Amino acid sequence: MALNRPIEVGILGGTGMVGQHFISFLQGHPWFKLVWLGASDRSAGKKLKDATAWRLEGAMPCDAAEIVVSDSKPGHAPKLMFSAMDASVATEIEQAFAQAGHIVVSNSRNHRMELDVPLLVPEINPDHLSLIPVQRKNRGWKGAIVTNPNCSTIVLTLALAPLAKFGFEAVMAATMQAVSGAGYPGVPSIDILGNVIPYIGGEEEKMQQETQKILGKVQDGKAAPLSMKVSAQCHRVSVADGHTVATSVKFASGAPSVEEVRQAMREFRGIPQQRELPSAPAQPVIYMEEQDRPQPRRDAARENGMPVFVGRVRNCPVLDIKFVACGHNTIRGAAGAAVLNAELMACEDLLS
Ligand SMILES: NC(=O)c1ccc[n+]([C@@H]2O[C@H](COP(=O)([O-])OP(=O)(O)OC[C@H]3O[C@@H](n4cnc5c(N)ncnc54)[C@H](OP(=O)(O)O)[C@@H]3O)[C@@H](O)[C@H]2O)c1
Repeated sequence: MALNRPIEVGILGGTGMVGQHFISFLQGHPWFKLVWLGASDRSAGKKLKDATAWRLEGAMPCDAAEIVVSDSKPGHAPKLMFSAMDASVATEIEQAFAQAGHIVVSNSRNHRMELDVPLLVPEINPDHLSLIPVQRKNRGWKGAIVTNPNCSTIVLTLALAPLAKFGFEAVMAATMQAVSGAGYPGVPSIDILGNVIPYIGGEEEKMQQETQKILGKVQDGKAAPLSMKVSAQCHRVSVADGHTVATSVKFASGAPSVEEVRQAMREFRGIPQQRELPSAPAQPVIYMEEQDRPQPRRDAARENGMPVFVGRVRNCPVLDIKFVACGHNTIRGAAGAAVLNAELMACEDLLS
């Protein structure tokens, strides 16, 4: 897609951990130019470099460092807003921006499960963007809210998507989730070093419900979840970046062979690949032949952190097929996912 000039964008929650991932991911983006940052009253009025410490590798990008942070009210912000807003305030703030005509592409959990809000993974359910006119009618606003999934859900759903043609009956998923998924400062080091914490508040419910919504359809102007049983067990482990999901799947009408599953994963492509969206990985699912891969430290950040890596596809003696999936939780699981959503929306002329 050729643009006459870049599309200006802002970030709600731009001083936070996910906000910084947005800033980093948007550096040098061919379509989007970061011009606006919003945060709380604590940061408003300060340049970004004075409002927050940079928590990512390297230095704070110079252009972003000089942006004066605004309070999180619509008015002077650009039309396209990414949101990495704290969940305790995201509901009202994102709605206020949509009401004022902004397109809010959100990474926060608050609106994900609403029936008229797309929970979008462009390779899987681009048709869910058809909820936008319904949302506008229901809510009486000119803007829109579009969300991306939770960071472990996106790893699971991208790994499952190539297998949808075989028909799902049930999925069991056990996660090993990186500490970066808990934000900053996150889990105390004394709790996590050399340890596994078998509880992440609300995470199992999010994985179960979001997976059904993403793999479901839009029917009668509402998101209709797929009627497939999903059981998730979520664990925080002593890994910096990259969520790993050990997955077993039961299929509705007989199991495909291990080779059919591998082949489906290798061949899987979506609209972002067909349209060559700037942040689209060449292959959304990368099947790894090595018996000890994927591994978060070695694989999650490859290819700009945008694919999901899958390995160890084998027969499951309880369900039908089992495998291991791994993806970058703050890139494909957060900022990169939202930017890819906005790229698809730009391509579909949904940002005007
Ligand atoms: N961390 C992850 O890996 C991850 C992954 C997926 C999704 N998420 C979701 O992404 C969102 C952000 O997470 P995070 O880890 O980046 O959190 P964070 O580091 O605590 O950042 C929160 C952001 O919200 C702003 N904020 C807080 N209270 C506000 C208020 N009353 N009004 C306006 N702005 C306010 C903060 O501004 P100040 O700096 O001014 O306080 C900051 O910019 C959350 O909804 C989280 O669930 C996080």
